[in-house]
Amino acid sequence: MSGAASSQTNNLEAFWMPFTANRQFKQNPRMFVGAKDMHYTTSDGRQVLDATAGLWCCNAGHSRPKVVEAVQKQVAELDYAPAFQMGHPKAFELAARLAALMPKPLDHVFFTNSGSESVDTALKIALAYQRAIGQGTRTRLIGRERGYHGVGFGGISVGGIVSNRKTFGTMLTGVDHMRHTHDPARNAFSRGIPENGAEYAEDLIRIIQLHDPSTIAAVIVEPVAGSTGVLIPPKGYLERLRQICDDNGILLIFDEVITGFGRLGSPFATDFFGVTPDLVTTAKGITSGVIPMGAVFCASKIYEAFMTGPEHMIELFHGYTYSAHPIACAAALATLDTYEEEGLLTRASELAQYWEDGLHGLKDCPNVIDIRNLGLIGAIELTPIDGQPTKRAFSAFLKAYDDGLLIRTTGDIIALSPPLIISKTQIDEIFEKLRKVLNSID
Ligand SMILES: Cc1ncc(COP(=O)(O)O)c(C=O)c1O
Repeated sequence: MSGAASSQTNNLEAFWMPFTANRQFKQNPRMFVGAKDMHYTTSDGRQVLDATAGLWCCNAGHSRPKVVEAVQKQVAELDYAPAFQMGHPKAFELAARLAALMPKPLDHVFFTNSGSESVDTALKIALAYQRAIGQGTRTRLIGRERGYHGVGFGGISVGGIVSNRKTFGTMLTGVDHMRHTHDPARNAFSRGIPENGAEYAEDLIRIIQLHDPSTIAAVIVEPVAGSTGVLIPPKGYLERLRQICDDNGILLIFDEVITGFGRLGSPFATDFFGVTPDLVTTAKGITSGVIPMGAVFCASKIYEAFMTGPEHMIELFHGYTYSAHPIACAAALATLDTYEEEGLLTRASELAQYWEDGLHGLKDCPNVIDIRNLGLIGAIELTPIDGQPTKRAFSAFLKAYDDGLLIRTTGDIIALSPPLIISKTQIDEIFEKLRKVLNSID
């Protein structure tokens, strides 16, 4: 082997890492080489407790036997099958099982490979649906400030995180944004659902009055905004959005890429809040992160609106080469089995109070200006260092990693979302470690 070829093995340069400070990382890399249940193993042989379920996705924990076995078996049996004009049984089985988990009428499932693709798919279905029912003037899409809907052009257009948008041109036209619901002046240190702020939903009325309802196809929100730093919807807010959408012929899309599959203590946030949207986007927990997959749930009226015209014609000109990939379907079916056998889709509800108490116990730590929680989600907001936003939380992330704890930070907010198999002892360990971290950074 030439010197050039062998040196490539340890060359960190070629991989342009996503959402990463590449130069910082490559000077001092943090490498995982194994994972089991609640822990990662690092390249220097340490165990790291996973307080983020990877990236909000490994809800069943890591390398669970049933899922591993299902993937191994599937790859040897049927590695790939086209999803356009062809099928394989597990795709239909999975769609039926997923539909049975969702409240009615969300009973049709369109498969994608990621949250970003699920969002683009849902936005496209919403536009095409309005046209199919003779409402073709409804072309506007409404998102929300601080929303995160992945990184496709659709997702960043309706999303509201400035750094994810500002360098990427004009994006989709005809998009507007409601205000976000974060209101620390009234809601700081709320436990669970904050009391104040249902009136932020009235922003949608303002936007409807500006553009006229006949121009608006859909509104998309995360029921609990995750990637922007955990923003819990105020009491009554989602209900009011639903009502306004109903009154104005607008579809409501819940982006449940993070809240789906048990994160709040019910299978989906739509169950948790008792608010049923017209479309739900999911990914991540659908396979517990093992194989990339996403799914868009559609209300039956939406699916039925497309089932017209000559029967030999394609009804929706949309899909991905890897939609309903056999290995992803096998992984998802085994993941659903694991969730059901271990009661994981409701386990967060049993742990939520314990989690909340532990998390809010960090209130007295230095620089903590807010703590928020719901289900098995938590956030600790820190005062930024003067003139150096994000640095304090990033220092906490690095220190936690050195101390054997994986956390996630966004801005100066620490976000926590452990696998749903976590024990109370491990919850204690997260908060003991975090206390030490917060006490030791500048
Ligand atoms: C609410 C939400 N939507 C969409 C996405 C994008 O998912 P992906 O990274 O799989 O494209 C994410 C990812 O964190 C998310 O939190």
